[in-house]
Formats: sequence, structure tokens, C-alpha cells
Amino acid sequence: MDKYVIDGGRRLEGAVAAQGSKNACLPMMAAALLAEGVTTLRNVPRLADIETMAAVLRALGAGVEWIGPHEVAIDASTVDKHVAPYDLVRRMRASLAVLGPLVARFRRAEVSLPGGCAFGPRPVDLHLKALRELGATVELEGGYIVAEAPALVGKRINLSGPAGPSRGATANLLMAATLAEGVTVIEDAAREPETVDLVNMLTAMGARIEGAGSAELVVTGVEELRPAEYEVMRDQIEAATYLLAGAITGGDVTVEGADPEYLTPFTAALAEADVAVEPAAGGLRLRGELPVGPVEVRTAPYPGFPTDLQPQTTALLTLASGRSVIVEGIYPDRYNHAPELARLGANVEVTPPTAIINGVHKLYGAYVMASDLRAGAALVLAGLAAGGETNVRRIYHIDRGYEDLEEKLTSLGAAIRRVAEE
Ligand code: EPU
Repeated sequence: MDKYVIDGGRRLEGAVAAQGSKNACLPMMAAALLAEGVTTLRNVPRLADIETMAAVLRALGAGVEWIGPHEVAIDASTVDKHVAPYDLVRRMRASLAVLGPLVARFRRAEVSLPGGCAFGPRPVDLHLKALRELGATVELEGGYIVAEAPALVGKRINLSGPAGPSRGATANLLMAATLAEGVTVIEDAAREPETVDLVNMLTAMGARIEGAGSAELVVTGVEELRPAEYEVMRDQIEAATYLLAGAITGGDVTVEGADPEYLTPFTAALAEADVAVEPAAGGLRLRGELPVGPVEVRTAPYPGFPTDLQPQTTALLTLASGRSVIVEGIYPDRYNHAPELARLGANVEVTPPTAIINGVHKLYGAYVMASDLRAGAALVLAGLAAGGETNVRRIYHIDRGYEDLEEKLTSLGAAIRRVAEE
């Protein structure tokens, strides 16, 4: 297992480019199953999660090959199995995205239930509901979701969940509906740009979908889809993480590919904290100065403040000049980073779904442990600001979502290295 060793307290300065979006790319790889032939994705980030999805597709019989540094070719003409095994799905919940495409094209799927998640329960009821409403029989057997559908027939389906729309269930239903008979109307669909990107890819494959970016998607089924070539959007969560690296070190960081529109609620919160962000060089530039002001943030589905930026933003607010409040509207328990930040000297009181952050003047280096991807990113950010040496352990979590993290931070002037641990 590797760890990061960070010598903190350096001001970061310079420019980095945002990688391709992990969360847009994962369902797109599954979407390649919908068409016979070779689909090519460009701007694919090189990440552990992408390799896991490649392994799931290979387990189904597909050919998956890197044909360039960030280009993947997926040949779905050789798919001859319909089982996504526990060993892969337990590593990554997003493997569930093969469910819709398999049922749509092969009329049968067995996908392991993903199991627990570090930041609380993440149910799959909406995924199952979506397929059942289209006419599939869906049973849970031996830890697997077993779906069968001699025919899929479109209808009006409401996908509201307790915390608003589900991105994963919207993706699964969208993909299944592309090959269903008639018209499927998805009510309370996810509106995230990653969902819009998936719609654009499916459209390039010949699907008929209207309403992308709104809460109602209308899918008119077609007989078959064809393979496509598609360029994945940039990763806005990664982009914002580097902007925060600028903020937490009082630095000056530009991220090429950061999208001002996607990041509006994030930059609005930064503005409230007196941190200036402006459009620059095909992206955003942040000029930081510490301490930042305290803010109140509530996470919500798009166009709200992204939950995937909550841990990293919490890291910044540990150094605010007062008391900040975070309300986690998607995952009430997504605060595994809080006790680890406390080890660096932060003062964070958690009463789910709320965290109160009383800003401190300084953080100090210590040993901390990443428990999941974004919590890990938060600890790296805090380590960049902390005086002395911070060791972030279990960074395989961070490798799931950040390509070349240490190279990018080093190019901005950070002292961070990856060290193999016994
Ligand atoms: N939900 C249900 N039932 C379901 C599905 C979801 O109640 O069947 C609930 C969830 O428990 C949650 C809410 O609905 O409270 C939203 O979950 P969603 O299904 O939208 O999440 P997801 O598709 O599993 C994606 C991202 C996550 C991100 C969430 C929320 C991917 C691969 N993952 O997950 O990203 O946190 O949306 O925005 O797109 C990350 O990148 O670090 C990450 C965890």
C-alpha cells in the first residue's frame, strides 16, 4: 500500500488541466454494451475505477483496449456472458451501470449487489424500480440482482428518491429505455452535466432522447444502436479540488477545463468566503488569501452544491476566520474526514447531517488515513496547508478518482511524494 508524504505550508501557483470526468465516463463504458461493434471513448482518465469498469466489461466477454494515453476502444460484439461478479462490483458501485444495457440488449442480467459504502447506506431500490416498470422481472438471489425481460415497454416512470434524483438510476433507465418499445418518460431525472454527456453519447449511437439537462427525459425506443466515437467531458470535481489547493495555501491556481457554469454553487460559496475565482485560460483562476471567511453550505443534487466537493470544502473551512456550517443533503454520514482533520488540528463537530467547523489559525502535520475518495482528497488538501509533515495513508482510495495527483500538485509547487508502505 502506498501513502502520500506531504511537506506542507507551501503556496501553490500555476496552472493544471482537468482530466476527463470519471463519473461521466463510467456509465458511458457500460453504454458501449448497447451496440454491436467497437465504441471509442476519448479523454478517458487513467484511474483505478476505469480499470474496474474495464474488468467488468471483459468479464462479460467484451474487448477493452487502451488505444491511446486517454483513449479506450470497447468491442461489444463478443459479449457472451451476462454476469457482473461480486468480486468486481464490491470494489465499485458504479459497476451497476451494466444492468440497464445488459437487460436492453441481451434481455438478461445478473449483477452483484454492491454492498456497503464507507459513507453510509447507498440503496439500489430506484435501479430495480426502473427496470421493473419497463417490464423486467427483477429478483434478488444469492446477493445478485437477477433481471429478465422478454420485452421492455416504455412508460412514464418517476425516479424520485428520498434525497432527490438518482444519477445512477437515471443512467440505467436511460440506457435500458433506448432499446425499449415505445416512449419512456423519466420524471425527476438527474440533471447533472454528466447525465447530459451520457445523453449526448447515446444520441451519437442513434438513440432518440429529449430533455437533457431538465428533470424530464423523453426516450423514444429504437430497434438498435450503433457504436460511436465520443469525447468525455472534463472532470469538474477534480478541477475544483485543484482550485481548493490554491485556496487552502493562499495561492494562485488556474485550472484549464474548469467549467464556470457547472461550478456556480461552488464558486458562489467561495465568493461568500471572500475567495476570488474568475474565468481564465479556458477555465477558472483562483487567487487565495488566508484566512477565508466562514460560510454555510448545503449539498444538493445539481444544480446544487455537489456532495463530491463537501469533504474538500470542509478542509478549506477548517482555516476560516469563524464558524462555518455544512449540511449534507445527499449522504448524511459523509463525514469520515472530520476525525482525521481533527488529527491535523481542525475543529469540526459532526451531528449528521450537519457539521459545524470552527476555524483555527493553523493545521499541523500528522498521520491520517483516507477512508474514501473525496475524504482522501480533503486530507491531501489539509496536508498541503499544514505546517510540517503529513502522511496520508490508504491512498488507493484517492487513486480511484485523481490521475497523476502528485505530479499535478508538484507542478504547482507542492512537496508531495508517493511512498510505498510496508
Ligand atoms: N438513492 C436511493 N436509491 C437508489 C439510488 C440512490 O435512495 O436506488 C439515493 C442515494 O442513497 C443518495 C441519492 O439517492 O442519497 C443520490 O444517489 P445517486 O444514485 O445519484 O448516486 P450514484 O449514482 O450512486 C453518483 C456519483 C457519486 C456521487 C453521487 C451523488 C458516479 C459514478 N458516482 O453516485 O460520486 O456522490 O452520484 O452526486 O457518478 C464520487 O465520485 O466520489 C462519488 C461518490
